[in-house]
Amino acid sequence: MGLFARKISSYFSLWNALTLSHLTSHSNALTLSRPHFFPLCFPAPHLSSKISIYSRQPMPAPVITLESTANQQDLVIQRPPSGRSLQGSIQVSGDKSISHRALMLGAIAQGETRIQGLLLGEDPRSTASCFRAMGAEVSELNAEEIVVRGVGLGQLQEPVEVLNAGNSGTTLRLMLGVLASHQERLFIVTGDKSLRSRPMSRVVQPLQQMGAQIWGRQGQALAPLAIAGQQLQGIHYHSPIASAQVKSCLLLAGLMAEGKTTVTEPTLSRDHSERMLQAFGAELNIDSESHSVTLTGQPKLDGQTVIVPGDISSAAFWLVAGAIVPDSELLLEGIGVNPTRTGILDALETMGADIQPENQRVVAGEPLADLRVRYGRLKGCTLAGELIPRSIDEIPILTVAAVFAEGTTVIRDAAELRVKESDRLAVMASQLNRMGARITEQPDGLEITGGTPLTGTDVESHSDHRIAMSLAIAALNATGTTRIHGAEAAAISYPDFTRTLQKLCDEEIKN
Ligand code: S3P
Repeated sequence: MGLFARKISSYFSLWNALTLSHLTSHSNALTLSRPHFFPLCFPAPHLSSKISIYSRQPMPAPVITLESTANQQDLVIQRPPSGRSLQGSIQVSGDKSISHRALMLGAIAQGETRIQGLLLGEDPRSTASCFRAMGAEVSELNAEEIVVRGVGLGQLQEPVEVLNAGNSGTTLRLMLGVLASHQERLFIVTGDKSLRSRPMSRVVQPLQQMGAQIWGRQGQALAPLAIAGQQLQGIHYHSPIASAQVKSCLLLAGLMAEGKTTVTEPTLSRDHSERMLQAFGAELNIDSESHSVTLTGQPKLDGQTVIVPGDISSAAFWLVAGAIVPDSELLLEGIGVNPTRTGILDALETMGADIQPENQRVVAGEPLADLRVRYGRLKGCTLAGELIPRSIDEIPILTVAAVFAEGTTVIRDAAELRVKESDRLAVMASQLNRMGARITEQPDGLEITGGTPLTGTDVESHSDHRIAMSLAIAALNATGTTRIHGAEAAAISYPDFTRTLQKLCDEEIKN
């Protein structure tokens, strides 16, 4: 557990009541029935992204413009010589990982699942459309509450069309676990150009050990993949990487397998699947010392009400913006602070950032807080080891923080970033270096010499949502004009990002 989790130790009575280690060791004392796990008296933390600005300031603001070309959008950020601070409170959109899981578990559970605060981004839309194609009823993803009518375990229909997961690795990898156990049905799954180049062996191989039949390009390593559902057997899988997608895929496969399925990982990855599976009625045992989770197959899953917290991976952009833009103060409301996700807070705190958690509470089995960030001088540090899986999606924006910190920041043990939506180590180094940063690539990380001023120029998102948004935050502190090509990628995980940026900078978006 990192610095941040220790900081909120005053909150431990409620916190401990809902952490998984406690639930495991006291599983008789606290049953995960709906009244405990889904305290419906809590208001939904953020039913839509919203922002309020504290005050108007006389200094000139950056000008944010969106320019559409034939098949992409450029985000142009023009910073005046004396840029002004960022002030306001922001409610970011729903957590992407929890949104996927709520849709998937809702689709395979019996009865109705109601989801409040679901991320209305492109990735969860891919999950919804895949499961609709297999018979689950999912209401339109434009409402404040999404209703999923599940088919029941093992009851997904063979789809008429190829299932397309778009850009979403979580959709594809978790869905493979579900499909592998659907006997006498054939499924063909694919994704966009980026997803078709991402490694699938990490889930295909353990699924094959469970008895799955899967075919694909390059020895089942790449999508498109074909899956012929089989009766699966539980296994004990020692995963070489700390990956929530691998762990979740195998637990979902284990739901319909004979016996027990155990996944042991080298360090703990995000545990949203474990929390939600238990809430839906699955039998899980967690050994937090050995980072192992065991699921007993063939339970009955019952639909639930899920309240999705604000996504800390989206809040991360404003945390860094608030920390690096002089004199800023931002309040991020209703953010999920599950300890398996708070690596960004620990990293920024080590770098000297001023971030205070406020109004800590537990909503629907996940810890939440409002996070107040104030500008301060940052210093370089080393980011490595168990912190990396806890901040895996935040390494691009942490690289931006490091560019504005004094001294050197070393990022290690992060080779996984090379197989995300883009090679995030190579892309962040090349694009920020174009702006004047001093970043050297290492096989498993980056070395960033901070403190060099950035100058705006043309940069490329490589169709990667987190790269597009990280570069936009860097541009806020760069002199001159930065043009981010392919900025539409932000809609994958944070459709309101540009609008929020524009409102913070208080200028009209010119389309
Ligand atoms: C995710 C797990 C992480 C993360 C991804 C979402 C999830 O991937 O990078 O954005 O929802 O399980 P890995 O499991 O590959 O690290």
